[in-house]
Amino acid sequence: MSEPVIEVRHLSKSFGTHVVLRDVDFTVNAGDVTCIIGASGSGKSTLLRCINLLETPTNGKVLFHGNDITAKGSDPCAYRAKVGMVFQSFNLFNNMTVLDNCTAGLRYVLHQDKETAQKTALENLEKVGMAPYIHAKPRQLSGGQKQRVAIARALAMQPEVLLFDEPTSALDPQMVGEVLAVMRQLAKEGLTMIVVTHEMAFARDVSSHVVYMADGVICEEGTPADIFEHPQNAKTVEFLSRFRQA
Ligand SMILES: Nc1ncnc2c1ncn2[C@@H]1O[C@H](COP(=O)(O)OP(=O)(O)OP(=O)(O)O)[C@@H](O)[C@H]1O
Ligand SMILES: [Mg+2]
Repeated sequence: MSEPVIEVRHLSKSFGTHVVLRDVDFTVNAGDVTCIIGASGSGKSTLLRCINLLETPTNGKVLFHGNDITAKGSDPCAYRAKVGMVFQSFNLFNNMTVLDNCTAGLRYVLHQDKETAQKTALENLEKVGMAPYIHAKPRQLSGGQKQRVAIARALAMQPEVLLFDEPTSALDPQMVGEVLAVMRQLAKEGLTMIVVTHEMAFARDVSSHVVYMADGVICEEGTPADIFEHPQNAKTVEFLSRFRQA
């Protein structure tokens, strides 16, 4: 279970003169649930977007099973079919039904026939409790339901790794639990996940590894016990104290 799946190596990212990530370096092994925590603006989304090739790193690289996916000539579509992403704002296709949202990638990226794609989509919609809504359009769903459809859509591609960027931040408080419950179940099943989150209880209870970012660098990383019970860095202590008071 300790084979590296994703290795982020000396990754830096600047927008013009604004340095957003500096020399970020960490490894995700098969079955790891890595939670990335940190203040707003610390570079968490930019890091996930670099890992998913939605941004091009300025320096450094990202390896997937040892292959440099940031190198020229590597195929971002094939890679993204293996490393899926769930966004804060769901990013569903609003003009398409729940079922069509979940079959689109299977049909047009993986070139599956309609029947096979629908079967896979349904299995994954069942898994997140959204099978009764296959004919609904996203606007007819609550935020929690939309996010569960987005997770089913990502799962349908049978990814090796799922990246989540604050998947519950846009939700009303009563809907956070239903999405976190799905994510807990995926973790239990051994899916490798990288989760940017402000849900400290989730990070503490579900993750195998916690990365604390501040100002574009990894300030501290370790097991949940290392970070939440024995933080070594004054910035980590200060950041976590804000959540303890809340
Ligand atoms: N496309 C872009 N062009 C210019 N600056 C950007 C771009 N994307 C991000 N930034 C800047 O990079 C910094 C880090 O942003 P990022 O969104 O990665 O932070 P974050 O940790 O995800 O914050 P939050 O918790 O608010 O989501 C911010 O100062 C932001 O303004
Ligand atoms: Mg962000």
